[in-house]
Amino acid sequence: MKRGFRLLGAVAIMALTATAAHADELDPKGEWSAYDKGNAALPPMGWNSWNAFALEIDEAKVIGSAETIVTSGLAAKGYRYIDLDEGWWARRGGDGRLVIRTDRFPSAIRSDGTTSFRPLTDKLHAMGLKAGIYSEIGRNSCGQIYSEEKASLPSGTVAEREVGLYDHVDQDIGLYFAEWGFDLIKVDGCGIRGLPESNPRVAAGEFRAFAPLIDSDSLGRTDIPAVRALFGKVADALERYNPDNDFVFSLCIWGSADVRSWAKNVGNLSRTSEDIFPIWGRMLFNMDSTSRRALYAQPGSWNDPDMLYIGNGDFDADHLTEARTHFSMWAMLNAPLIIGYDLRKAAPELMAILGNEGIIALDQDPAGNQAVLAYDSDDVQIYAKTLADGTKGVAILNRTSAPLDAVLTAEHLKFLAGADVELTDLWTGNTTRFKGEQKFTLAPRETLVFKAKGKRMLADGYYLSEMPGSVNPAVDGVTVPQAEPMTHRAILPWQSTHGNGEHPRYGGWGGAQADATPYGEELAVSGRRFASGIGVLANSRLEIRNAGYRHFSAEVGVDDSARDRSEPVTFSVYGDGKLLARSDPMRFGEAPAKIEADVAGVKLVEIVARSATPMRFPDPVTWGNAALTR
Ligand code: GLA
Repeated sequence: MKRGFRLLGAVAIMALTATAAHADELDPKGEWSAYDKGNAALPPMGWNSWNAFALEIDEAKVIGSAETIVTSGLAAKGYRYIDLDEGWWARRGGDGRLVIRTDRFPSAIRSDGTTSFRPLTDKLHAMGLKAGIYSEIGRNSCGQIYSEEKASLPSGTVAEREVGLYDHVDQDIGLYFAEWGFDLIKVDGCGIRGLPESNPRVAAGEFRAFAPLIDSDSLGRTDIPAVRALFGKVADALERYNPDNDFVFSLCIWGSADVRSWAKNVGNLSRTSEDIFPIWGRMLFNMDSTSRRALYAQPGSWNDPDMLYIGNGDFDADHLTEARTHFSMWAMLNAPLIIGYDLRKAAPELMAILGNEGIIALDQDPAGNQAVLAYDSDDVQIYAKTLADGTKGVAILNRTSAPLDAVLTAEHLKFLAGADVELTDLWTGNTTRFKGEQKFTLAPRETLVFKAKGKRMLADGYYLSEMPGSVNPAVDGVTVPQAEPMTHRAILPWQSTHGNGEHPRYGGWGGAQADATPYGEELAVSGRRFASGIGVLANSRLEIRNAGYRHFSAEVGVDDSARDRSEPVTFSVYGDGKLLARSDPMRFGEAPAKIEADVAGVKLVEIVARSATPMRFPDPVTWGNAALTR
């Protein structure tokens, strides 16, 4: 009896706690919560040694590439970061201070016997460039765990070969930024996924075991909060050691640990997938890991589908169509444009691709709106991106290896069908016009990229789905992270076809979407379809930066794709923390309700969809035609 009572009490307390947490995170906060520290208002551009040289880096290669960046004019076009990737560590010294490989970086030798990258960073800074360094969140690096090239890896005792940040965050970040003067850090994560007791190198006594926090194959087997906390510590140290705020924090855990949901709160760049290879299918795979995540990128925090592979394999000087596609798509997706090629030997055609100013401008547009899928299929995709001046960038991508036709409509661009649309081809410079729709024939693997001018459907404002860079899904309603099945499943080159295939592996399924439901369906409430809108799960809160608009409006309801359907959902609009408008509780099957609010003078609009009681798996809801207007 007594036991039963106690149990009931515990259940009641748990239920109360769940309700409190539910209420708390959905309460308006009145401030933008996505990461805006560091120097990444625009996606960083530059060069990184990895795709060009792997572990075989040295000073001549780095400075040689930096010099080419300057003399070729690429630096003037925005390529500024010169980033060292793995291959620079000699070991960790007795006092914990990291030692540089002076056989490869002779300028690092100092008279007191220590080493320093200050001469290298000084040189890069004097060239008008910025300098990036590479580290690891665990004790040991990717190369140490996976590579056979021992000669290029740290040497010494087990402790001396622990060159990663684990237990050394403060010391290493101080060294990299305060003492050596770096401006960017890429932090890899192999040390927290690849060193279980069973690893043969651990068994052989080469490395200390590290009970894996990340299992790239399984979100369920990954300790997501622990991984996030480790990267959070690095972010804190970066702030401490960069009082001038001139740093970039680049997370590299390849889309694992549901990082696609939380990196926007922790750092400036976050890899969304495993490494890119100079193979067409791999490029699609990396691209897809980012392309449905427009709402998870904002100025200050960008999705990173990995570095450019232009110059190699399927993207070399004999494959300029593919190289142009790769470059165009990275720019449409606001990816960091980080060249991964030995620029000292680059053919002029490749330099022309990397230097295309129209395409670079798409990437560097100050509004920071990652392109949204306007048309999606496995064969052709059409991406549209709203630029700061109200015009659009549009890319029509032929994913296949056969020629095919595609039709671009004014609606894809959210332009009026009755008015002229002017297209400027950003590769040829040609300008054409159409009304309503225009057919194009695409060569195999070709992407046509245009800047488009027309009459916007909303002449005096924007749909929220046109301005993902100003929308932050602070709480997206996902209760249990799920892997997204929409990514092109290319063969993992180092695994080949061992095992039983490529499974969905990157969290993000069920996240907030522009112009689609959280599970990739058409937005619809009680049969009413919406070509524009935000699809998100119930029990979500979205923050929207308001650049002087006066009016918020939407048509809201539980989406027709809902499965639970048991809970009514209430939709609320807040302005700088104050309630402005609220719908009645809306049930599945009910016609959409109009919700409007006067947001004049409001800096931050928050829109909240809340179920009557917490749900284990919240239903999709639709903010149809959600828009800000003058
Ligand atoms: C990982 C990263 C790569 C590169 C290598 C270095 O694989 O994803 O980008 O930094 O490590 O070993």
